[in-house]
Amino acid sequence: MKIIRTANYEELSKQAAKMMITRIKSNPNIILGLATGSTPIGTYQLLIDDHLKNGTSYENITTVNLDEYAGLNPADPNSYHFFMQDKLFKHINIPASHTHLPEGTAENLLEECRQYEELIKKKGGIDLQLLGIGGNGHIGFNEPGTSFDSRTHVVILDEQTRQANARFFRSIEEVPTHALTMGIATIMESKEILLLASGKSKAEAVKQLIHGDITEELPASILKNHKSFTLIADEEALSLS
Ligand code: F6R
Repeated sequence: MKIIRTANYEELSKQAAKMMITRIKSNPNIILGLATGSTPIGTYQLLIDDHLKNGTSYENITTVNLDEYAGLNPADPNSYHFFMQDKLFKHINIPASHTHLPEGTAENLLEECRQYEELIKKKGGIDLQLLGIGGNGHIGFNEPGTSFDSRTHVVILDEQTRQANARFFRSIEEVPTHALTMGIATIMESKEILLLASGKSKAEAVKQLIHGDITEELPASILKNHKSFTLIADEEALSLS
């Protein structure tokens, strides 16, 4: 596990974008695993800035996102489909057919999960997976207690996660109760993993990740077993470590 410490969120975003752009340039057909949430927004903005300024091309890149809420269609402003369009895809030259997220409105969610796994396998696996971390140590929507052997699956969202995500919705009642997420085993098969952690609300999870045991009670802890895992964290996220 490699740790990159940054002074603040801005520096964290710069480091993450730099690493991603380097990988994209050295492999124009790269398969990127992407995350939503607040943390990667700064990184995505820097990828957009670089695309516009330096012409880094996304034409041959494929993306697979970690997760999506069950029941939200892509046009819903709270869906992760919408988020990815808004924060990244519509600003770069990636063909729509190259971008993938689990379909939260699929008629058969279990079949959707199975097909998502198959899709990742067919693409040859994820080259670089970008992750955020929940205050409870979750990665994707893999909440504490999720098996390290899990593949893409349907989850019941943790109350803490629904509360944390309620800021994007009009009320807590509107936050979906279920989601589809890549599993922990799916994430661990990525060739390289980059985890971003920013702010005090992540400090406890980051402390446990760095100093604690590898346990299913802290899903992110398994990342320490990955041979190519980098954590980029700012001062606040590292304040208890
Ligand atoms: C998002 C995701 C989540 C977030 C995590 C942190 O696709 O899979 O695991 O990365 O909840 O969210 P933020 O960045 O909003 O603190």
